[in-house]
Amino acid sequence: MPDPPDPRPQFDITNRTILLTGGTGGLGSAIARGLAACGAHLVIVARAADRLKEIVVGIQDAGGSAVGVPADITLAEDRAAVVDTAIAEFGGIDVLINNAGVTHRVPVAELDVETYRRINGVNAEAALFLAQAAYPHLKAHGNGSVVNVLSIGMWNSGANSVLYRSTKSALHGMTMVLAQEWAQDGIRVNAVAPGTFEAGMGTALSADRVAAQVARTPMRRRGRPDEIVPTMLYLASDASSYVTGTTLRVDGGTVSL
Ligand SMILES: NC(=O)c1ccc[n+]([C@@H]2O[C@H](COP(=O)([O-])OP(=O)(O)OC[C@H]3O[C@@H](n4cnc5c(N)ncnc54)[C@H](OP(=O)(O)O)[C@@H]3O)[C@@H](O)[C@H]2O)c1
Repeated sequence: MPDPPDPRPQFDITNRTILLTGGTGGLGSAIARGLAACGAHLVIVARAADRLKEIVVGIQDAGGSAVGVPADITLAEDRAAVVDTAIAEFGGIDVLINNAGVTHRVPVAELDVETYRRINGVNAEAALFLAQAAYPHLKAHGNGSVVNVLSIGMWNSGANSVLYRSTKSALHGMTMVLAQEWAQDGIRVNAVAPGTFEAGMGTALSADRVAAQVARTPMRRRGRPDEIVPTMLYLASDASSYVTGTTLRVDGGTVSL
């Protein structure tokens, strides 16, 4: 048999356009900086314009390529504007990373439908319809990739977590269906499930909850934001060309307990 080819070029994402939601957050900003450092063009989406500008300028100062689009992804017109900006700035969309996420802890007995719709609107509905809006552009390039960010809380969270767990589970279901519907279009659809990280919403936890989460993590520590980036690079690049409909856990082994 001939020697297998050098796999390193398959990780090359130079000049790929990556649409990233929640790119100002604890994990999202690490993903934005990391993928821009690999040569991709980043289209970064969040509502807070000041923080968005800070991230974009930081990437540009480091020699990277990025634009920021202040947008509320729960609004159809904002999702359309995000896609239009990506096309206007970079001529296409190769990768969509649905990373924006929100959480709210409440017992089911006290839950109201408006709160449910707010959380589901970001975590599930916006991700689905942003993927739908990006679909013709992902298809046009023949090797599109969608990455949906879940959470290990989807498997192991308990009381008071109905909003987070059910909406991330919905996003997981969407991942599986889109992977099947779009496989023939050359679009791969996968998910990443982070464990507990020293960033973003992970930092909002009480010391007791952090200690409990670390205790059930076989690696006995939280993840660093930079430890999510190589998994995103893998799924965004041709290195994962035969991978679709799967979920990669980046969690120090937590769910295997
Ligand atoms: N950090 C962890 O330990 C951890 C663990 C497991 C899973 N995750 C998942 O990883 C992802 C990133 O988490 P993170 O910790 O980085 O979160 P984060 O720091 O709270 O950031 C959330 C991001 O989403 C954006 N966002 C929220 N609502 C939005 C809306 N309606 N429209 C547009 N953007 C919106 C926020 O920007 P604006 O507020 O400015 O809009 C921000 O950029 C989430 O999906 C989360 O569920 C995180």
